[in-house]
Amino acid sequence: MNHKTGPFSERVRLLLAEMSLEEKIGQLLLVNGAEGELTEELRTGIITGRIGGVLNEADADTVGEMQRLAREESPRGIGLLMARDVIHGYHTIAPIPLGQAASWNPEIVEACARLSAQEATQDGLNWAFAPMLDVSRDPRWGRVAESFGEDPLLIGELGAAMVRGLQGKGLDHADSLAACLKHFAGYGACEAGRDYNSTFMPEGELRQTHLPPFKRAIEAGARTIMASFSDLNGIPATANKQLLTDILRGEWGFGGFVVSDWEAIPQLMDHGLCATEKDAAFEAASAGVEMEMYSSCFRDTLAALIEKGRLNKKRVDEMVGRLLEVKCEMGLLDDRKHPVNVPDMAAGLACVKQAALESIVLLRNQDNLLPLDQAGLKRLAVIGPLADKQADQLGTWVFDGKPELAITPLKALKEALPASVELDFVAGLGHSRDTSTAEIDQAVNAARQADLTLLVLGEEAILSGEAHCRAQIDLPGAQSELLNRICDTGKPVILVIMAGRPLAIEKEASRVKSLLYAWHPGSMGGPALADLLLGKASPMGRLPITMPRLSGQVPIYYARRRTGRPPTGEFYTHIDDIAVGAAQHSTGNTSHHLDAGYTPLFPFGFGLGYAETRLEKLQLESSRLPMDGCLSFSVELVHESGPRQREVVQVYLRDHVASVTRPIKELKAWQLVELAVGERRKLDFSLPLSELSFVGRDQAWRIEPGTHTLEVGLASDGGLTLDFEIVA
Ligand code: BGC
Repeated sequence: MNHKTGPFSERVRLLLAEMSLEEKIGQLLLVNGAEGELTEELRTGIITGRIGGVLNEADADTVGEMQRLAREESPRGIGLLMARDVIHGYHTIAPIPLGQAASWNPEIVEACARLSAQEATQDGLNWAFAPMLDVSRDPRWGRVAESFGEDPLLIGELGAAMVRGLQGKGLDHADSLAACLKHFAGYGACEAGRDYNSTFMPEGELRQTHLPPFKRAIEAGARTIMASFSDLNGIPATANKQLLTDILRGEWGFGGFVVSDWEAIPQLMDHGLCATEKDAAFEAASAGVEMEMYSSCFRDTLAALIEKGRLNKKRVDEMVGRLLEVKCEMGLLDDRKHPVNVPDMAAGLACVKQAALESIVLLRNQDNLLPLDQAGLKRLAVIGPLADKQADQLGTWVFDGKPELAITPLKALKEALPASVELDFVAGLGHSRDTSTAEIDQAVNAARQADLTLLVLGEEAILSGEAHCRAQIDLPGAQSELLNRICDTGKPVILVIMAGRPLAIEKEASRVKSLLYAWHPGSMGGPALADLLLGKASPMGRLPITMPRLSGQVPIYYARRRTGRPPTGEFYTHIDDIAVGAAQHSTGNTSHHLDAGYTPLFPFGFGLGYAETRLEKLQLESSRLPMDGCLSFSVELVHESGPRQREVVQVYLRDHVASVTRPIKELKAWQLVELAVGERRKLDFSLPLSELSFVGRDQAWRIEPGTHTLEVGLASDGGLTLDFEIVA
């Protein structure tokens, strides 16, 4: 019998038979901790079996005592879920998830998640509210930082890797954190990129784009999932039966449990869906929510709902049974052990440094300014409000992060550069939003006297993350002015951006020689940057999200539909070039902005290295394929010049004509390939044609005959192409 979909284990059934209704309802409650304090309310709640789990308590002694009370003094001895937002590290912080996604490397994502789990379980935690799998195509949304970017395949694969890393060798292992996939579903499409805002999407789009990463991560072993608190097509996810029951349980056979997001059940009243807490509890429980986070509608109303016959007792047994089943798998019905091994700090720092190295994207490198020629370098100016900010480089969601562990670019460069190089640091601005220009002259002087300037700009950590959305995603404060004044010196400038989102920096990017996008790179961001600047490694990061030219272009993503008026080629009208009095149609009737064209500043998948590489000899095994066939092809990657280089070879497919309109291309596979100097490597790919299926008018996945284009490239904006036919 498959334990994931079969009836509850005998053990859970016996337990359910013994438990009172109050105890059962108690299991469905996830309450907030009190920051190291075991309040009387918490103590009583635990001892009487009226609490199923606690979130936000990370004091090891308090957690230990809570768990002891639950195991030894509560009526059934059921251990507690101990939850925390362990998003991209615990004490040792990896790059933000969006940065990790730029590695395109499931192995490093898994390694960072393993490290977080090893650290967090030391404090007794056993449940992480990660990974976030929301498809994020709007960088105004602050939570884009917490996501793996815009592409469902990339998000799904990296999400699965994070699940494997958090859960390690099994849910009951002492150093394992149960993963919680969030936010199910559609939250990433919040209108105008404004957090908590409504989402509207056709069912086909939900199924085709937003749901697949969740399915993939469930297949990787995730046993808990968080319902989004956003409104999906008029029915908030927390009350959305189609989502939480029909699809999740019915179609996917998910056997774990669903937790609400923070206060999402009473928020059904704020949405205007329910008038009372009782109605809200009824809606959520009936739709498929099993556990309530923070608020207490279940606690206060479920018994009455059962008594009045509105909610079936069986549903409550089902809710508790599902939860206990997962607790059982986590060892919480037994004596779950405390981890024996304390993680090695040096190994942890090495892991997050590697992640930072793989996540930083080189977007521009005129005249091969990078890597730095140390022999010719006498004086380097390091300027910018983020060059030496330990806490800010960690990014959002680092409740337990240790800023004192972070090494900034300034500190790392001081250590890495030979003593012969003079290093002059001027912040120029106190923080990223600083509008005071008082220190800019001093920064300009430093730049003037130096051979070159490293300018570290971007966003402080507080400008991204939950509820930290921006309508204008430019460089805040007086940073553009600082950059322009430095560039006016005529000395070469390397710009490093640390930010929680892609920023619209077209003008700034055009003024500097080199541009490295570091996201919020975590504890070891500085040493990773120093290695790249000095050529100890060649940049490997590739954009997991499209970078717009201007804020007004978003949402902008590579897998867009063609439209009936597709813009083509280099077509780009600039608003200033339109003759005064020009005829109405003179600018062309295609889908573009007069002031931004239609192309992004940098496309999804893009990133440079220090080596020149090239793809050639794309060959299809067969260009006529039956519907149940396999698309097999090979391509060669050639290293032409420069150092050792890792590339991301990306495979896109385009379906020319179908019964619903299709994206202009979709990522279907990728390979990470590390080439030695002068090496040529043949890469083989084999894709079952089922991977080409799409959601049709009937909302079912289908595959149709017709012409497709295979495109293999090193970014989403072009590559080698070959057409093939799928025949009926
Ligand atoms: C967020 C979740 C998070 C939860 C607990 C909510 O506001 O949406 O992602 O896990 O809080 O902190």
